[in-house]
Amino acid sequence: MPASKLKVIVTRKLPEPVETRMRELFDVELNEADQPMRKAELAEAMARADVLVPTLTDKIDAALLAQAGERLKLIANYGAGFDHIDVQTARSRGIMVTNTPGVLTEDTADITMALILSVPRRLKEGAELMSRGDWQGWSPTALMGHRIGGKRLGILGMGRIGQAVAARARGFGLQIHYHNRHRLRAEVEERLEATWWESLDQMLARVDILSVNAPHTPSTFHLLNARRLKLMKPTAYIVNTSRGEVIDENALTRMLRAGELAGAGLDVYEHGHDVNPRLKELPNVLLLPHMGSATEEGRIEMGEKVIINIKTFADGHRPPDQVVPSML
Ligand code: DGY
Repeated sequence: MPASKLKVIVTRKLPEPVETRMRELFDVELNEADQPMRKAELAEAMARADVLVPTLTDKIDAALLAQAGERLKLIANYGAGFDHIDVQTARSRGIMVTNTPGVLTEDTADITMALILSVPRRLKEGAELMSRGDWQGWSPTALMGHRIGGKRLGILGMGRIGQAVAARARGFGLQIHYHNRHRLRAEVEERLEATWWESLDQMLARVDILSVNAPHTPSTFHLLNARRLKLMKPTAYIVNTSRGEVIDENALTRMLRAGELAGAGLDVYEHGHDVNPRLKELPNVLLLPHMGSATEEGRIEMGEKVIINIKTFADGHRPPDQVVPSML
């Protein structure tokens, strides 16, 4: 089918240049009001569309996929993570899934680094002191945090983003340790001066800062459970810009409240925007609203990737960013 005839339904508002290009190329329905679609609305869209463009706020589960129309052949996700889509069921129904990897790597690594720097140096407490107007001037002992340089950074998940975090962290004098399903090639390890730990447990016990950069899959769900979190030093910090489900959020909250961990910087949460209220109360916890990829450049490039995936598919070729079983 020519791309111009494809019924493309987009579930959330996308950056203006992306929407303009989609209007030029496809028979597109946009969500200009940016109201997240309810289940019934999603089902209705999936019954009519040739291509659905969802985001991580749309849960595309087996029940919804069962209601998809015959013509739905592609779910071109706007985002790199695809844990909100039942990819196996989609495949079994002949629906291809694509994502947008690569273009948000650097932006997400920047936010990760910002959290790695901010939490041990107590930036949140300093900024709040200023906002309250309570600052009484410089003092030799006020707001002392911990030095970044020389500390051990453990990276859980050494894919594109993990490696981009490592490259930045080297510049700040951190020693790089990582745990990943597969060990990196020797030349990459050498370039990043990174030490591989086959055992996550052993790495956790030794790091000063842990950065979570692993995707959420069935095998990473609660990978950082209470038992593993307890292996960490009470002086250690945790940063998560990947997916909240990788950490048992209740266990993390309990330990932070009990002083069994030194602090945390989180951009993602186990239950989406339903953030554990107890986390919000803690001075040593810096919370961000899932904004790792939120740059104008990155969000436009994500849209360009979606368009390329749809166009390639419409032209009868394999889209560049197909989600395949080995990625699950
Ligand atoms: C993604 O693309 O999955 C990111 O989490 C969005 O920031």
